Amino acid sequence: EEKERESLFTLTEFAKKFFINQLHNSEEGNLIGLSYFRERGYTKEIIEKFELGYSPKQWDVFAEYALKNGYTKELLEESGLVNFKEDNKKYDKFRERVMFPIYSFSGRALGFGGRILQNNVKAPKYLNSPENMIYHKSKTLYGLFQAKQHITKKDHCFLVEGYTDVLSLYQAGVQNVVASSGTALTVEQIRLIKRLTENITVMYDGDSAGIKASFRGIDMILEQELNVKVLLLPEGEDPDSFAKKHSATEIEEYIKDNATDFIRFKVNVLLDEAKDDPIKKAALIREIVKSISLIPNIIKREVYVTETSKLLQIREEVLFKELAQLQKSGD
Ligand code: CTP
Ligand code: MN
Ligand code: MN
Ligand code: MN
Ligand code: MN
Repeated sequence: EEKERESLFTLTEFAKKFFINQLHNSEEGNLIGLSYFRERGYTKEIIEKFELGYSPKQWDVFAEYALKNGYTKELLEESGLVNFKEDNKKYDKFRERVMFPIYSFSGRALGFGGRILQNNVKAPKYLNSPENMIYHKSKTLYGLFQAKQHITKKDHCFLVEGYTDVLSLYQAGVQNVVASSGTALTVEQIRLIKRLTENITVMYDGDSAGIKASFRGIDMILEQELNVKVLLLPEGEDPDSFAKKHSATEIEEYIKDNATDFIRFKVNVLLDEAKDDPIKKAALIREIVKSISLIPNIIKREVYVTETSKLLQIREEVLFKELAQLQKSGD
């Protein structure tokens, strides 16, 4: 078992180098991959730092190359990097995509995300390595390896949705940033951050999916006893597109002016939805109190009750009563 894991690590590292080499040293990689990254404004430094790559068009270039280098069919299959069909035809999992290697906490390549080059085609925009003995999507955070020292130094971590959000913020000088890579945030991912800091700012996409995901994220982060703020981006922007339109100083200023405490964020969004509807407002209050009830620390809970009471102009006793009821029902 341990030997098998080691072989997978070796193969993944080998694949990473293959994709990097394709990007920089093949005509196709240059023409298609490198120009894609350039068009999106990524610098040579960031491309190298994150070891971005390119997977060629042809069906089985990687498979052939790996077999020639002594990697077995079984291992290639196990990694998910190559699919073998009954007639022994083989297909590389990643074809004609720009490649983002995903690392462990200590910097070993575990798997890949691969982005399609044109939008609006039928194929999924991103493909990710399948789960195997070394890669568990729910236990990794994209960018953590490159960000960890910055997270420690700043005692603060930005959490974004995607690969390109990490790259663009990092390039703009916001280096304490990691991505949950689309999936719902997991407890394991939060615990990885908790090793480095107790302060998280969620910076998800400025769309309804992003807001929904940050609501879920907030509650999970609170349950893990971390401090959480939310930074809502202008509608239709994600950290990548936002970072491309603004200078490093403007980004810093935006963060300073707009990062809000989770209570304020939830109240604002929900109040906006509820308008003057008393039924919706009551639901809103329960929703906020539910979040507060997730905070393990009693003093912090009290502080938030006071804050909510002011924001919503509801007496504290009412909130405490609701809180007590929620905790009794063990929700
Ligand atoms: N994602 C995925 N599979 C998809 C779509 C998204 O795994 N079909 C994950 C990726 O990690 C992606 C993240 O979810 O980075 C956020 O998705 P989205 O906002 O749609 O993509 P962006 O990160 O904005 O990608 P880009 O800027 O390249 O369009
Ligand atoms: Mn495992
Ligand atoms: Mn999105
Ligand atoms: Mn996005
Ligand atoms: Mn984007």
